[in-house]
Amino acid sequence: MEKAREAGPLLSLEGGLSLAPTTPATSEVDLEQRRVKAELIAASFAADGIDAMALGASDWTLGTEAVRSLVEKHQLPVLAANLTCDGQHPYPPSKVLESAGHKVGVIGVTMGPVEGCDVGDARQAVAEAVQGLGPVDVVVALVPADSERAVRAFAAPTHDAAPLGVDVVIDGRGRPASAGVDEHNGSWYAGAGNRGKWVGFLDLRFVPGSDTWFGKGAEQHSVARLDSLRDRYDGMDDRIARTADPNIKRRLEEQKIKYEEEIRNLERELEHPPDLSTMNLIEVHSIELGADVPDQAAAAERVKLAKQAVIQASGQDPSRFVPRLVDDTSSPYAGGEACVGCHREEHAQWSTTAHARAFQSLVTVQRALDAQCYSCHVTGAGLGGGPQDPMSTAGFRDVQCEACHGAARGHAADPAAVRTTKPSPNAASCTKCHDGEQDQGRFEPDSYMSQIVHRAPATP
Ligand code: HEC
Ligand code: HEC
Ligand code: HEC
Ligand code: HEC
Repeated sequence: MEKAREAGPLLSLEGGLSLAPTTPATSEVDLEQRRVKAELIAASFAADGIDAMALGASDWTLGTEAVRSLVEKHQLPVLAANLTCDGQHPYPPSKVLESAGHKVGVIGVTMGPVEGCDVGDARQAVAEAVQGLGPVDVVVALVPADSERAVRAFAAPTHDAAPLGVDVVIDGRGRPASAGVDEHNGSWYAGAGNRGKWVGFLDLRFVPGSDTWFGKGAEQHSVARLDSLRDRYDGMDDRIARTADPNIKRRLEEQKIKYEEEIRNLERELEHPPDLSTMNLIEVHSIELGADVPDQAAAAERVKLAKQAVIQASGQDPSRFVPRLVDDTSSPYAGGEACVGCHREEHAQWSTTAHARAFQSLVTVQRALDAQCYSCHVTGAGLGGGPQDPMSTAGFRDVQCEACHGAARGHAADPAAVRTTKPSPNAASCTKCHDGEQDQGRFEPDSYMSQIVHRAPATP
């Protein structure tokens, strides 16, 4: 963003859902830590100079009071056209930003629930906010939802409803910018990816005298959409013939007519491409915040302090050595040390795997006490008799034997009488941790399995 600012006029907008994760908090510790992180994020927005932002459902899970005081403390420019608390609108519905001689009208809505407040109909609130903006050169709406939900909330509720008067809708959690923009009932929808791993850029090119907008790359979308519509249309007769239920038959026939209509519209649109020289142009692109984008020094310092705050609040030193033994004898888990005596070979092999260092990896990046991180880097997290928060991982540290074989205290005490619940785990027991998201899709069943099996396959 610093580079972009040097290159030309830049407004910084935030679509929402950025202060807290969309998954529910797993414990009190988790909620407390989420507030620490939200503070970090809010401080960073403020320091970087943010021009307007929206708040969404996950943000509000931090608690209405907590969010409102955060906004106040950091003077965050929140817009919330449809939020009412105690009969008042705590945040303005919109604002007009000036940039490079253009007036950019920005409208924000929130999505709830927001404890103690009312969240009104987003579409209606936006329609009113558009009226309230006065003359502007472009209208941008910030919607804290994924793009499908945003389209449902904003695009026409009925086929022939009037366009909203919003030129661009930015969704707070949705499609990556690489997915481009597409148009629904007069508004162009764009996103900047999620999980804080991207910065999306929305380039606006103004053509004097024009008030229509066109999204670059939209033709490819139309072509793809037309292809899939034709496929679906072709399958309809078959589906109708196969259906016995007259109600379903009727609905399918209606659907077929809708497809027909949309196909005709798209064909017409593609036959008559718009004259781009007379239209304002929208183009999206993004920058991945990968390792090649160095951390800004001030931001890195804030992150360091937040990590320290989490560690200090815990009163623990996660780098201190703890044996892999579960002290609580009422737990069904025994800990890997309890297996060594009888399974020396398996233990020796396991010790060479990444699983035996999984907790250390978190210690190294100072996240071992982080509720968002610990669960896959320890054994039995969230399960009966396992650790329920990152303060109580003690003997459960690392991905130990029982993470794959199931709790085995009974077996360890009397192996002749009790077998383990999962004697030979399959790939399904891996994917709760190798979940395709946190591991960035690196898991590959065969090659991964071959790295963790305890014995080399017998050679013929
Ligand atoms: C006192 C010795 C002893 C201890 C301690 C012990 N095991 Fe075993 N384990 C055995 C024996 C003996 C077998 C073979 C049982 C059989 O074939 O019926 C076995 C078999 C297994 C198997 C193969 C599948 C099965 O259930 O037959 C797994 C997996 C296993 N143990 C895991 C563990 C784990 C995990 C621990 C530690 C929590 C552990 N064992 C502790 C003696 C022990
Ligand atoms: C409790 C969560 C958990 C389970 C269950 C789990 N893993 Fe892992 N696995 C991890 C974590 C965390 C790491 C990263 C460890 C590190 O480097 O800190 C990892 C790392 C690995 C690695 C090393 C990857 C690399 O290239 O560095 C392999 C291979 C692997 N796991 C295979 C498996 C397989 C196969 C299974 C299922 C039989 C499985 N894991 C089950 C959490 C889990
Ligand atoms: C859903 C389970 C899960 C959660 C939650 C999780 N991890 Fe991991 N983590 C993994 C797995 C699986 C791997 C191994 C990925 C691989 O190499 O295939 C891993 C690997 C790692 C590694 C070592 C390899 C690397 O990429 O450098 C680090 C460090 C790490 N995780 C840190 C974290 C942090 C920090 C958090 C919290 C923000 C976290 N993890 C939360 C599953 C998880
Ligand atoms: C990442 C998952 C995973 C972890 C962690 C793990 N195992 Fe296993 N274990 C397997 C799988 C998969 C098999 C079946 C394939 C095989 O034979 O290696 C297995 C098989 C076994 C067997 C059956 C005999 C054998 O050696 O094949 C024993 C005993 C066993 N494990 C003990 C242990 C002990 C003890 C630990 C901890 C020191 C451990 N396992 C950790 C996945 C795991």
